[in-house]
Amino acid sequence: MISVYPDLDALSRAAAELFAERAARAVAEHGRCAILLSGGETPRRAYELLAKEPLRDRVPWGKLHIFWGDERCVAPDDHRSNARMVQQALLDRVPVPVGQVHPILGDRDPREAADEYEDTLRRFFAGAAPRFDLVLLGLGDDGHTASLFPDSQALEERQRWATVTRRAGEEIVRVTLTPPLINQADLVVFLVAGEDKAAVIHEVLENHPDPRSLPAKLIMPEQGELRWLVDLPAASLLRRTNGSSPIVV
Ligand code: 6PG
Repeated sequence: MISVYPDLDALSRAAAELFAERAARAVAEHGRCAILLSGGETPRRAYELLAKEPLRDRVPWGKLHIFWGDERCVAPDDHRSNARMVQQALLDRVPVPVGQVHPILGDRDPREAADEYEDTLRRFFAGAAPRFDLVLLGLGDDGHTASLFPDSQALEERQRWATVTRRAGEEIVRVTLTPPLINQADLVVFLVAGEDKAAVIHEVLENHPDPRSLPAKLIMPEQGELRWLVDLPAASLLRRTNGSSPIVV
C-alpha cells in the first residue's frame, strides 16, 4: 500500500502514529514489541515526534526491543553512526530499558560485529520465527535499503541474518540485516521523501528490473504487510499504481 503525504512533516507524523499504534498492538497481543529501525536522515523527524507528547505517552516503551537494520562500522560517537542518530533523536528521551536496546557494535571488527548481532537476534527470538513487529526502512537513490547495495554479495545471503558489506566505491564497511530476516516481519514500512527519490521509487514500484540492481525490491514480507509512506516530491513520477493513484493523505 502506498500513502502519499504533502511533505516530510506530514509523512513523519504518519510514521510516528503508525509506530505508536503497532507498538501498542504488539504489546497487547504478545507482551512485547520487536522493532527494527532505519538509519539515514528520512526517519529522524518521526523519531523526534515519538519522543514528544502526545505520542510519547502512547508508546509502551518498557516493552519495546529496539534493533537496527544496518550500521556503519564506525565509533558510536561518529556522526555517521545510525545508533547515534536514533539515540539522540529518540532513545535518550524515552524509557526503553537499556537491556532492550540492541545496537550493532560498529566499533568492533565488522565480521565479529555481524556474528555478535546474529547471536543477539537468535537469542532474542529463541528458536521462534524471527518476526519483527515493525520494520522501518529507507530507500537510497540507487535503490538500496538498509545496507543492501546493488550487486552486492549480501543480496545472495539466504542463511545469515546479519552480514558484512560495503557500498561500491565506499571506504566504510557496514553490517546489514538480510532479506530472509527482514521478510519475516509483520509490517515493513518504507519512508521515502524528497524529489531526489522520485526516479528510484518509480523504478522500484512501477518497473520490473532485476532486484539485484534495486535491492529494495527484495523486501517482500512473506506473511506480513508492506507499506510505503512517501511525500509528494518523491511520488511525483508515480503513475497510477496497482490500478489506482497513490493515496494522498
Ligand atoms: C543508512 C540507511 C540507508 C538509508 C537510505 C536512505 O544506513 O543510511 O540504512 O538504507 O535508509 O540510504 O537514506 P536517507 O533517509 O538519508 O535518504
